[in-house]
Amino acid sequence: YRNLRVALLGGGSVGAQVARLLLEHGDELASRVGAGLELVGILVRDLDAPRSADLPRELLTTDADSLILGADIVIELMGGIEPARSYILSAINSGADVVTANKALLAQHGAELFEAADQVGAQLNYEAAVAGAIPIVRPLRDSLAGDKVNRILGIVNGTTNFILDRMDVAGDTLEEALATATDLGYAEADPTADIGGYDAAQKAALLASLAFHTTVPLEKVYREGITAVTQQQIESARKAGYVVKLLAICERLVDPETGLEGVSARVYPAMVPVSHPLASVHGANNAVFVEAEAAGPLMFYGAGAGGVQTASAVLGDLVSIARRHVVGGPGFAASSHADLPVLDIGKVTTRY
Ligand code: NAP
Ligand code: HSE
Repeated sequence: YRNLRVALLGGGSVGAQVARLLLEHGDELASRVGAGLELVGILVRDLDAPRSADLPRELLTTDADSLILGADIVIELMGGIEPARSYILSAINSGADVVTANKALLAQHGAELFEAADQVGAQLNYEAAVAGAIPIVRPLRDSLAGDKVNRILGIVNGTTNFILDRMDVAGDTLEEALATATDLGYAEADPTADIGGYDAAQKAALLASLAFHTTVPLEKVYREGITAVTQQQIESARKAGYVVKLLAICERLVDPETGLEGVSARVYPAMVPVSHPLASVHGANNAVFVEAEAAGPLMFYGAGAGGVQTASAVLGDLVSIARRHVVGGPGFAASSHADLPVLDIGKVTTRY
């Protein structure tokens, strides 16, 4: 099968790591897909800007149109609304499938983009748009599609969890902790999105839409950020046996006034009892609890932000899409790495 041409839009915290992993592990990924994944270019603004990975200079470009045209799969990791929206539409209309991590764009223009993709039979995957490395989009979209989800509760923004944690355990100010989170590549290009709760609200809109099979507009998500949370409040909460966490809550509810059944999505800082598992989610980690009628309670936990961690989710989407390009390829059944020996070493002590 011919190589699949992959165009990457964005070479920042996440994009640079996606490019590095794609170049380093190309052969292994090709064996899982049944075709090579050829990185044909990386769109950036500044060809000379420092990058978190050593990328071949000849792959960097500022020419979006030429890069998108002729690509089989376009990965959008630029962030923001425009030009990301136009580039994704142009990729779809030129016959490409798309992977994106852009929750801001999807929460605002998801309906338009999904409709455009449906019209031409293109795939649009976005696992990395919610909770970084944690698989949560596809479990809701696919694994739980036959169940009835009643509630989602979790920490879905790594930057604010990192900040609240540092304010609690290290005595940092919000500004100091935000500066560290930005250096570590966790924060959005405009970190107001994180500390104002906008990023978490976008993710709540995406999660609620998937879980409840409806469209939850961003403007219907109740939102409070963490800018009003003080060190004294965190200390008092701690003394009373609570930890302050920015939570996203999506649930089916009955309006007490009208009796109308519907769904609600809310984001706000909350006092979580220290005994609750969410109280032990530290640093930029995220955790999402899903309550479904048949499955019961489910828990998803892991890195919620970070370039390389998020790159894992992006590459998962890429492999998943690429497999569907390859008729007669290894698919799911034979996608294990054939060359790896199975060791016959009996019982080995496990470290916890
Ligand atoms: P970033 O570090 O700011 O990188 C953005 C990249 O896009 C940069 O390489 C930038 O080029 C390029 N770019 C931006 N606007 C452009 C334009 N108009 N034309 C050409 N290139 C442009 O962002 P990031 O942290 O990697 O995040 C990327 C996306 O992933 C965002 O949607 C974000 O919400 C999402 N996400 C991020 C994380 C995370 O932990 N960082 C986790 C999950 C999802 P230059 O390098 O030349 O400036
Ligand atoms: N800025 C986001 C966060 C990146 O901190 O959670 C991951 O979506």
